[in-house]
Amino acid sequence: MKRNELDAFWLPFTANRAFKARPRLFAAAEGLHYITPDGRRVIDATSGLYCVNAGHGQPRITEAIREAAGRLDYAPSFQFTHPQAFDLSSRLALMAPGDLDHVFLAGSGSEAVDTALKIALSYHRARGEGGRTRLIGRERGYHGVGFGGVAVGGMVNNRKQFGALMAGVDHLTTTYDRARDAYTVGEPETGADLADELKRLIGLHDASTIAAVIVEPVAGSTGCLPPPKGYLERLRAITAEHGILLIFDEVITGFGRLGHGFAAERYGVVPDLIAFAKGVTNGAVPLAGVLARKHVYDAHMQGPDHAVELFHGYTYSAHPLGVAAALATLDLYREEDLFARAKANEAAFAEAMMSLKGHRHVVDIRPIGLICGIDLESAPGAPGKRGYRATELSYHDHDLYVRVGMDTLIVAPPLTAGPADFADIRDRIAKVIARID
Ligand SMILES: Cc1ncc(COP(=O)(O)O)c(C=O)c1O
Repeated sequence: MKRNELDAFWLPFTANRAFKARPRLFAAAEGLHYITPDGRRVIDATSGLYCVNAGHGQPRITEAIREAAGRLDYAPSFQFTHPQAFDLSSRLALMAPGDLDHVFLAGSGSEAVDTALKIALSYHRARGEGGRTRLIGRERGYHGVGFGGVAVGGMVNNRKQFGALMAGVDHLTTTYDRARDAYTVGEPETGADLADELKRLIGLHDASTIAAVIVEPVAGSTGCLPPPKGYLERLRAITAEHGILLIFDEVITGFGRLGHGFAAERYGVVPDLIAFAKGVTNGAVPLAGVLARKHVYDAHMQGPDHAVELFHGYTYSAHPLGVAAALATLDLYREEDLFARAKANEAAFAEAMMSLKGHRHVVDIRPIGLICGIDLESAPGAPGKRGYRATELSYHDHDLYVRVGMDTLIVAPPLTAGPADFADIRDRIAKVIARID
């Protein structure tokens, strides 16, 4: 006999021992709610993991997946592919701003990020600037869990267990300064000059060694850090001036989270590459990818016709079920005008979240679009403990699911949620934090 039937599954990003002592399970989902095995309806305040942007159980997406599974279970995309892969890529290219006209498909956000970093390296090499190998990320950035993404990422807990990661990486400083920005709604007024830090790094390493800068337009998993006004525009100007590619990691910010198809539109900045995932399929099937500008793609299209231009790809690139789910999801977003709905609800969402100011332990609240970080002051000598308690109390006693990173709650409801749902989420959070020591 095995000691414990919960032992076999080693859960990701989880306190396994505490979890297995008192598990938190979801057996089904519908609209804004998860349903527990014992039948409780738990409001989903974080769209799963920021991916179920149209709410759970959308019949149109379910049907598209079912139809695809019955028609074409799998097709390789190495030297072959299937027709819908072109439909999806064209749709995404049309959605993206500027000449972000080419799409490389992958399976997860982490794969998308590593793909974007590799494309940046191969781009420079293809143009005869193979010395540009340095990659620059930012403190408090999250770019998934591949070696490349962790190396350019800036969350210490995600880095410290894994040794030297990748050589030749440097980081911009975070744009977050609590003393300056606490309780700011949306983009802080000051801090654009932090982009000039890139000039310092160029001075240190020389532009001829730097391939790309990668940032999340709004840092998500670290606790929702909106960019200071003008910061992204400045990063764009400096990267362009020095021949450095700018990569936006839009794994969270894409597909309506900030009221637009991509954050690039919100900020009027066209990066050279965009990594996307999550909301592209409403979370229903893993699918992700990279949008590349024309000059990036064109630089690769050289050499003999029979030669592979980019030695990169995944067994599940353009998986038929993911592609079908994505096409149905994009239809749904458009027909229900969900990005505009998110934009229209941004102020009401911010107001609901900001009303938690003054509640016990709360030291900052940062809403933007339909995402908000709520920082709790860490318990003395025990960072993460209050956050874990919030996770437990929310699920077991208050029928609330909200993602917690250390002591920060990250609220990001489906774009189908409205003011009454924001108030409901807010009330539940208030009850939870009132009970934390
Ligand atoms: C900005 C960003 N990039 C990359 C990832 C990694 O995505 P995945 O977990 O699908 O690998 C995430 C996941 O939350 C993310 O927020």
